[in-house]
Amino acid sequence: MTQPLLIENAAQIVTPLGKKAHFGREMAELSVYENQSILVEDGKISAIGDVDRIGRGVPESCRIDAAGKAVLPGFVDSHTHLVFGGYRPDEFLWRMGGMSYMDIMNRGGGIVNTMKATRAASEEELIRHAMDHLKKMLAMGLTTVEAKSGYGQDEDTEIKQLHVTRKLNESQPIELVSTFLGAHAVPPEYEGRGDEFIEFLLHQVMPTVARERLAEFCDVFCEKGVFSVEQSRHLLTEARKMGFKLKIHADEIVSLGGSELAAELHATSADHLLHASDAGIRAMAENGVVSTLLPTTAFCLREPFARAREMIDTGCAVALATDFNPGSGFTFSVPLMIGLAVIYMHMSAEETITALTLNGAAAVDRADRIGTIEEGKQADLVILQYPSYKFLPYHTGVNIVEKVIKKGKLVHSAC
Ligand code: NIG
Ligand code: FE
Repeated sequence: MTQPLLIENAAQIVTPLGKKAHFGREMAELSVYENQSILVEDGKISAIGDVDRIGRGVPESCRIDAAGKAVLPGFVDSHTHLVFGGYRPDEFLWRMGGMSYMDIMNRGGGIVNTMKATRAASEEELIRHAMDHLKKMLAMGLTTVEAKSGYGQDEDTEIKQLHVTRKLNESQPIELVSTFLGAHAVPPEYEGRGDEFIEFLLHQVMPTVARERLAEFCDVFCEKGVFSVEQSRHLLTEARKMGFKLKIHADEIVSLGGSELAAELHATSADHLLHASDAGIRAMAENGVVSTLLPTTAFCLREPFARAREMIDTGCAVALATDFNPGSGFTFSVPLMIGLAVIYMHMSAEETITALTLNGAAAVDRADRIGTIEEGKQADLVILQYPSYKFLPYHTGVNIVEKVIKKGKLVHSAC
């Protein structure tokens, strides 16, 4: 048994409750305990209560004073493209000058641009860059991060990206959830032959990924001019047979039917959803699909935000994630994401917290283990510099995370 840890006398302990995603109105239901403490043993939360009751016998060196501070579940970023080579600052500025994301992609930029740099990069370089980003993500309170492949689109590079993710998972505190996104773009070798590329992924690449357990999820960029609904359905149906759980980049640029497809397949999540139709929104709510929204991407693409308010009012389980990637949104700023969700997407502070914790955990199929502060859950915790969760949107765009605890260990302290 490892040393216990006591987080004592928190001004607030703030958390959704449960082991499943919260849909619709449930998203606003948070439990708030005042002046209580959390006892952690063997990496798990073993008690929440009065310090005199639960803290007896815990040595001074195993105590963190949380007086005047709010404690929340560790944040979950359920959608990132963490591992990539090179950067694309020019494309960002071209977009600001009026060019569209798809114009740039059709001219050989975009994902294919990063694909070339990722193919050329060594594992060590990819690790070094991603590690630098992960350190900053941890400081923003992210304790679990999903990471997609998809910048290789050939066998060796896709596997290289997934190996890098595995190594990173073993060498720093954030738990990484690996997703295979070979179907991210049709690579130049397969131009005009998307169907054949999908068969190549299914027969040549994914059996190895499945056998070596290099990814838990399979994702696809279901988008006009990239992969059609039919191609996405075929890929994901076969992926499920191989043991992958399912995610979809759905209705990001146009309303193609990705959210309806996610509902039909009972995918774990459908992500982006800037142009999800009314029917797609209803179908996600009715079929238990987590609707993952990525406000910083809409912001960086200068596109209208996803209809979070309508989704929650229709009964969806909304998660928020950063979509960190070198193209459509080169940011993992949790404070910016929270600000955009509350100010422009009309989510309440309470809904935003559920979206970043329990619903994020559900989007990576870990709601039974993480995402709330409850006895028996893994002790992934964030301590804020301020006494209330309301400071998260209010101190707009500023990182107010003071300490981060992962599996019961203090892994980051800003002071
Ligand atoms: O989620 N839309 C597809 N994939 C990423 C962008 C990838 C890139 O531009 O490199 C996204 O926005
Ligand atoms: Fe993405």
